[in-house]
Amino acid sequence: MFITFEGGEGSGKTTCIQKVVAHLQNEHYDVVLTREPGGTPISEEIRNVILDKKNTDMDPRTEALLYAASRRQHIVEKILPALKAGKIVISDRFLDSSLAYQGGARGLGIDTIYQVNQYATEGLEPDVTFFFDIDPEEGLARIAKNAGREVNRLDVEALAFHQKVRAAFQAIAKQNPKRIVTIDASKSAEEVYETVLHEIEKRLKKA
Ligand code: TYD
Repeated sequence: MFITFEGGEGSGKTTCIQKVVAHLQNEHYDVVLTREPGGTPISEEIRNVILDKKNTDMDPRTEALLYAASRRQHIVEKILPALKAGKIVISDRFLDSSLAYQGGARGLGIDTIYQVNQYATEGLEPDVTFFFDIDPEEGLARIAKNAGREVNRLDVEALAFHQKVRAAFQAIAKQNPKRIVTIDASKSAEEVYETVLHEIEKRLKKA
């Protein structure tokens, strides 16, 4: 089973993922936890180029292609082998982040970014995606409070950018009601975790 978590900055998805992974491992599931951009050495190097605060000159299409390149390597080297070995793969962000950030917020077009990514994914899609939906003002306020977390190039984009990201995620979720479960991320961490776990367990029983 391939599970992805998506959402804006400060939505709490990463904290939730850690709890979900710990729980599944406790239940003796073989779980591979990974993230995008990154997940393999080559993909992590591409990540460093994309998120480097110095790279303010990066063209939006270059950015989109780098995310897709990083994803390609991640799929081939890590995701597909793990899925073939029968493991549960959980990724902190995947294709929908490109659709929302590059397609929606950067204005390259969700359909265009979907097409570009087809070359990288060859049609691989998650079995289930959790979209952590939160008002960007609330999300960014959470990040500001969490002083230990590194602030990257995309975190410092204007609020309007994050509002576009959210609107794009909401549109993508609406178009993919079977795959994407929208989570109200303004709820308590405990409530969010329980909801996500319940949805995963439902699907594991069916599998
Ligand atoms: P990261 O520090 O991993 O953010 P988070 O903790 O919010 O997941 O940085 C990843 C950033 O890259 C984040 O701002 C979202 C962005 N991103 C894209 O714009 N497109 C993509 O395809 C992916 C995977 C991430």
